[in-house]
Amino acid sequence: MRVAGIVVAAGLGERLGLDRPKALVPLAGRPILSHALEALAASRVLGLLVVAYPPGHEGDCRRAAEGCTGALPVRFVEGGMSRQDSVAHGLALVDESWDVVFVHDAARPLVPPACVVALAGAFPDARAATLAIPASDTTVEALHGAIARPLDRDRLWLLQTPQAFERSLLVSAHARAGADALSATDDTSLVLALGAEVRIVPGSPENRKITTEDDLTFAEAVLARRARGGADRLDAAAGPASAGSLGP
Ligand code: CTP
Ligand code: MG
Repeated sequence: MRVAGIVVAAGLGERLGLDRPKALVPLAGRPILSHALEALAASRVLGLLVVAYPPGHEGDCRRAAEGCTGALPVRFVEGGMSRQDSVAHGLALVDESWDVVFVHDAARPLVPPACVVALAGAFPDARAATLAIPASDTTVEALHGAIARPLDRDRLWLLQTPQAFERSLLVSAHARAGADALSATDDTSLVLALGAEVRIVPGSPENRKITTEDDLTFAEAVLARRARGGADRLDAAAGPASAGSLGP
C-alpha cells in the first residue's frame, strides 16, 4: 500500500497570538512544523509528504522542512482560508497512485511515531481511522451557559491527528462537503457525513494540539523529558514497514 501524508500548516495561530504563523513558532529552538515533519518521517510509513503553507510563507516552510524527513520527498502547496480548504489543496497533489492519505495538523508536533505506525496498521482492513484518546474529564453538553445534558464519559473520545483515509474516500468526502457547503474542523467529520465508518486507534496525551501558550509550555516539557530519555524516542517506533509501503 502506498501512503501519502498531508500536513496542514497554513493557520495563523491567532489564539497563540505571536508574531508569526503557529507552524513557524519555535519549540525547543526549531519551528513547530519541523518537529511534526520529523515525527511523521520517523514512522517510516509514508512515501510522500505534502505541506500546506500559510500564504507568504512558502520559503519559511521549505526551510523548516530541510533536514527533517531524510529521503522522504516533501511537496509544498499554498493553504486555504480554512483548515478544510488547506486539506483540499494538499489532496490535489496526491494523485491516484496513492492508496491511503494521512492528514496531520502541523500544530501537533509531538505525535509519537509509534502511534502513526499503529494508525497505518488499521489498513487495509479499515477504510478510515483516527487517533483518539478517552475523555478523562466529566463532559457535558451546554446551552446558553447552562448544562443541557450530561454525557456518558465512558463513550467519549477526544480526536487527534493524524487521521487516515483511503484516498478515494477522502476525495469523495471533500467533494460532498463542497457540494453541500459542509464545513468541519477535521476530516473524520466529513467522512462520517458520507456514512462511512471511522475506526479509533489509541493516540497519546503527548499528541496535544498547540493552541495556546500553555500548550507550548507543555510541549517544551515533553521534549525536555524525551531529551533526558524518559519517553518515546523517535527511533523506537521505526516499525517493520519499509518507506512508503505497508503490510504484505
Ligand atoms: N490550518 C490550515 N489552514 C487554515 C487553518 C488552519 O492549514 N486556513 C491548520 C493549522 O495550521 C493547524 C491545524 O490546521 O496545523 C489546526 O488548526 P488550529 O489549531 O485552529 O490552528 P490555527 O488556525 O493556526 O490557530 P487559530 O485558530 O488560533 O488561529
Ligand atoms: Mg484555527
